[in-house]
Amino acid sequence: MDAKIQQRVDQLRKEINHHNYRYHALDDPEISDAQFDELMRQLRELEEQHPHLVTPESPTQRVGAPPIQGFAQVKHRQPMLSLANAFNIDELTAWHRRVSNLLGVDAFDMVCELKIDGLAVSLTYEEGRLVQGATRGDGYRGEDVTHNLRTISSIPLALLGVAPGRLEVRGEVFMSKDAFAKLNREREANDEPLYANPRNTAAGSVRQLDPAMTASRNLEIYVYSVGDRDDGGQENGTAADTHWDALEKMRSLGFRISPHNRLCRAIEEVEDYYRRWLEGIHDLPFHADGVVVKINSFQYQEELGFVGREPRWAIAYKFPAEQAVTKLRDIGINVGRTGSLNPFAMLEPVVVGGATVKMATLHNEEDIHRKDIRIGDWVTVERAGEVIPKVVGPVLSRRTEKLPEFKMPSECPICSTEVVKTEDDAQHRCPNATCPAQFFELFKHFVSKGAMNIDGLGEKWCAILIEQGLVKDLADLYYLKREQLLELDRMGEKLVAKIMDNIEASKSRPLSRVLFALGVLHVGSENADLLASRFHGIDEIAQASQEQFTGIQGIGPKIAASIVAHFAVESNRNVIDKLQKAGVKLEREESEEGQSAEPLPLQGQTFCITGALSGMSRSRAQARIKSLGGAAASSVTRKTTYLVVGQNPGSKVATAERLGTEIIDENALLQILDVAAR
Ligand code: IVH
Repeated sequence: MDAKIQQRVDQLRKEINHHNYRYHALDDPEISDAQFDELMRQLRELEEQHPHLVTPESPTQRVGAPPIQGFAQVKHRQPMLSLANAFNIDELTAWHRRVSNLLGVDAFDMVCELKIDGLAVSLTYEEGRLVQGATRGDGYRGEDVTHNLRTISSIPLALLGVAPGRLEVRGEVFMSKDAFAKLNREREANDEPLYANPRNTAAGSVRQLDPAMTASRNLEIYVYSVGDRDDGGQENGTAADTHWDALEKMRSLGFRISPHNRLCRAIEEVEDYYRRWLEGIHDLPFHADGVVVKINSFQYQEELGFVGREPRWAIAYKFPAEQAVTKLRDIGINVGRTGSLNPFAMLEPVVVGGATVKMATLHNEEDIHRKDIRIGDWVTVERAGEVIPKVVGPVLSRRTEKLPEFKMPSECPICSTEVVKTEDDAQHRCPNATCPAQFFELFKHFVSKGAMNIDGLGEKWCAILIEQGLVKDLADLYYLKREQLLELDRMGEKLVAKIMDNIEASKSRPLSRVLFALGVLHVGSENADLLASRFHGIDEIAQASQEQFTGIQGIGPKIAASIVAHFAVESNRNVIDKLQKAGVKLEREESEEGQSAEPLPLQGQTFCITGALSGMSRSRAQARIKSLGGAAASSVTRKTTYLVVGQNPGSKVATAERLGTEIIDENALLQILDVAAR
């Protein structure tokens, strides 16, 4: 039994050491932080159960990996520690209870800070001047990166206030999402490989040998603690009894302190803070992976002390991980409404951001090649906020065999028509307007709420009508007979009547809606409104030249070319003829002039959602609200009609109560949506 446990412990240590080296020394991790934390947790657990297996070399007994060669080493006067983690509310309350028992008090203040995902640095000032900047390294020794840190404009070179003697402060250096995106855009333009994420890029930028390079990277800092102090008995501007006061004093010395810090009196306020940021973190300009909770009183901090390298007086309450590494099994292709061939990743299932992910978007071929993603690779998958998961890139160091480059199919996977790819379009497209996959998407769009609004014809019936050969082009819908519909399995009299009525009613939709419904590439509802306000009818649009379109403010050459190309296709012109013959109104009514589509059912109503919904994602709910004319807001104001409360709601509930906003649950929302969609 013991031999087996020893084997497992050895294996875990080997894996952890490897990943530690990748992360700390090379800034190039192969697994996510959450996956690493899990390995550490397993090792810690085994060592706790079998203390005789603990050795001084075990990764649980030290912090980080040794610094890489190339920079002068710096010994930290006081070790730079790490933090214990809490992954759920139970672990947080257990920590609070432990602290409470150790201190023998029920209540104490805590400071909540965002745990920014960057790299920890130490800054030493002598007589108010920056003399040394260092990385954390293994916690005891770091690297001297003074020349690089001096280039970060939010790091003061000289302090604003009095600070005699020596003062060391610590903080997190990071790169904003915008700076990261801009850097990658520049690299893309120069055909250079793209960076995977802001954290590694920030770490790499601080370890540049050339400070000019660091300077170009737009790094930032938030300072979060005082390290070593030696003021020779004089007040050096940072003497304080509490962490909160120390932060304030550092701020007045010229350090950049996070504006998001909050002083909390009770654990419930810490929970509020966490929930507030769990919801709002994506609106911030930088990445944060949790909340750091620190006991405010320095006296209490001293009483609590440390366990190993972790202070008992602080804890990192982590957000669910948003990135994970998994295997790319295959690349599938979807054909969109405009014929675009959209590659998507088929993944070995993995939990990201609290949900199991099996598929993720891959944009287009160019993107796949630029990132060098190949079938069979280990890839990093990200699910940030509510957006559809995406593949960030491959973990190249884990590619052990030769894998072929990905190639888009040369034929449409659905109708086998030869695929078209032009220079100025990133997408490969199936040019066959009658391609079943393309047509299915187009048909769904045509009957949808914002287009011809033919209620009763859901996705399922659209597929059946196409399958049965009853609808081969959009206009066929207007030639359907009652009897044909009645013959379909599970189609009842009532539904047939409803569908026929709605088809009839749709014949008099405004011109802008018909234009939008046709699904012309690049003609969304806004462009459709523009066109409908300038032309009298579809015939006129079908005959207009490219110049006539580009003469309209808001219509560029790409859109103009696409409209001309659409009406040049014979089958598209036939559809227009058939629509006209069926009695569909294709001209603008004078009363329509200047007015756009008729109001949608939720027009004027604003919804705000807090907490997790159980039946659908928040983005799905917001999309449904918007498609019915409602607005989806991210905060509660006087204009909010409803606050929808899901699981673990945030502080918005209190705001809504204060403002008297109507608070509803998920079921009530579904009911509103169903009624509006009828
Ligand atoms: S305090 C003894 N505060 O998290 C406490 N750390 O594992 C030492 N971090 O190495 C850290 N934001 O890189 C603290 N507001 C914050 C932080 C923060 C990010 C990082 C830091 C540190 C790691 C702790």
